[in-house]
Amino acid sequence: MEKLSSSIPRDLKLRIQNAKHVVVITGAGISAESGIPTFRGEDGLWKNYRAEELATPWAFEKNPELVWKWYDWRRGIIAKAAPNPGHIIIAEMEQFYPNFTLITQNVDGLHRKAGCKNVIEIHGNLWRVRCIREGKTFYLEEVPLHEIPPHCSCGALVRPDVVWFGESLDPTLIRKSQKALTTCDLLFVIGTSGIVQPVASFPSIAKQSGAFIIEINLEPTPISAIANISLRGKSGEILPALFKTD
Ligand code: APR
Repeated sequence: MEKLSSSIPRDLKLRIQNAKHVVVITGAGISAESGIPTFRGEDGLWKNYRAEELATPWAFEKNPELVWKWYDWRRGIIAKAAPNPGHIIIAEMEQFYPNFTLITQNVDGLHRKAGCKNVIEIHGNLWRVRCIREGKTFYLEEVPLHEIPPHCSCGALVRPDVVWFGESLDPTLIRKSQKALTTCDLLFVIGTSGIVQPVASFPSIAKQSGAFIIEINLEPTPISAIANISLRGKSGEILPALFKTD
């Protein structure tokens, strides 16, 4: 990570190399090359399933078995997935920069699997469950689950410890993210459609505080309008190229 590839414009190279406080925001696109379906787009998860039937507190109340079957299916896919070169470069960035914050909307846990230590999992983690009676959380990593829907030792149902549509995000994680966004000098926004709030507004916070924004995505998004540079392509290819040593 000392020197960047010569195919990258020199001023961009210097900016990336000399940044002191870097924030990375990731979405489902970073995990696409690990074989995990994204939510929107061609083969997006929301094309085949109605969000309100599966990822809402009301859906869970109505049919916890259906919701858990969907999560069990996704957990099965994710359990077989390995971090891709994009996840690995981000884990190396954490070591390289004096001040580094990763905010992910993904619940797949692949950033940690790639070696990232400090990850703000702003939408939760699908390997963690929460007792609906006691509110206590714990990891339940069995794949496939032997009991659907699964229960807590107290006898109550557990739910995936993720943020569903219509639910609020953890205010502590929002504050932590905002602090990083208002103090960073460089922000990467990688593989997110940039339409789900509040994360969709995070790049504007960094922009207002003077950060330089690099977007990496296959296609234009609402973030492209405020990004200083939008790099079009796969994050698993662009990130290694940006940080490649000559
Ligand atoms: N490299 C870079 N970008 C990619 C790649 C790739 N290999 N593959 C897909 N993308 C881009 C797509 O172009 C799209 O803009 O990733 C984005 C994925 O968008 P979404 O499927 O909408 O995922 P995300 O933005 O993470 O969704 C946000 O919505 O449903 C909720 O809670 C869910 O966290 C999720 C949130």
